[in-house]
Amino acid sequence: NDGFFGRDLLSLEDYTPDEINYLLELAYYIKEQRKKGIAFEPLKGKILGMIFEKSSTRTRVSFEAGMMQLGGQAIFLSSRDIQLGRGETIADTARVLSGYLDGIMIRTFSHDSVEELAKYASIPVINGLTDLHHPCQVLADLQTILEIKGTLKGQKLVYIGDGNNMAHSLMIGAAKTGMEMVVAAPEKYLPDEKVTNKAQDIAKETGAIISVTTDAAEAVQNADFIYTDVWASMGQEEEQEVRKAIFAEYQVNDELLAKAKSDVTFLHCLPAHRGEEVTESVLEGKHSVVFQQAENRLHAQKALLTALMS
Ligand code: CP
Ligand code: NVA
Repeated sequence: NDGFFGRDLLSLEDYTPDEINYLLELAYYIKEQRKKGIAFEPLKGKILGMIFEKSSTRTRVSFEAGMMQLGGQAIFLSSRDIQLGRGETIADTARVLSGYLDGIMIRTFSHDSVEELAKYASIPVINGLTDLHHPCQVLADLQTILEIKGTLKGQKLVYIGDGNNMAHSLMIGAAKTGMEMVVAAPEKYLPDEKVTNKAQDIAKETGAIISVTTDAAEAVQNADFIYTDVWASMGQEEEQEVRKAIFAEYQVNDELLAKAKSDVTFLHCLPAHRGEEVTESVLEGKHSVVFQQAENRLHAQKALLTALMS
């Protein structure tokens, strides 16, 4: 556990491949213990504050349940109810909460806000999703891929749809762990170039291959994993109808799946919009592991909390 205590997790960029592997091994151990019914409580007496400026089912419940299972506690802080929502600064909030808590998880819009919070907080800050990144989801996704394939290196992961926070964090995660990843998105919705360049730089050191394209059918050739996410993320609700038309060719359906390897696995961070980015038959079909993925949020985050807070 050396070298983790007190750190933040804003993006997986800040973690080495060895550190990511350590977290995944710990997540595996924590999941095993839970399945055997053996308590693992390294966070007795520790408290995590959870600030939410956007909705959540998985992130909220897996962090809260995870803290309790680790022997600690969690406090849910809706931004509507705390003074942050009435204009108290992030810097002041960070210093006040650092006096009460042992860690802060935050879900918000701007990634800069999370960086600001981390700058002023003296306790670990965990990014529970921003418009730019969703690293906790990717830890769970990597754990899921490992469970299925036994290795990450060389696996081909194809992300279809909006070049959003999920696409960004997956590119960083894939680059760090030596995977091959292709993002297929409409021209104007390709991932942020800075993130793509960063992922490609990391890839040079790890042997990963990261690329982007607008051609979904070509991208899925030989894919081991196909991943998608909603076409309109939280905060983009008013663009939903326009995006539906633009993204129509990027639906993950049986026809697209048939172009990948015959044993391809389908991934989705959830919540899903059936009939939009994915069809009912793919989401509920034999290739889909979306609920295994959702469960792994719990185990992967318990590993992260243990590493940063104990
Ligand atoms: N995947 C995910 O982060 O889900 P929630 O929005 O429900 O937390
Ligand atoms: N891209 C989605 C992910 C939700 C977990 C969003 O930001 O709304």
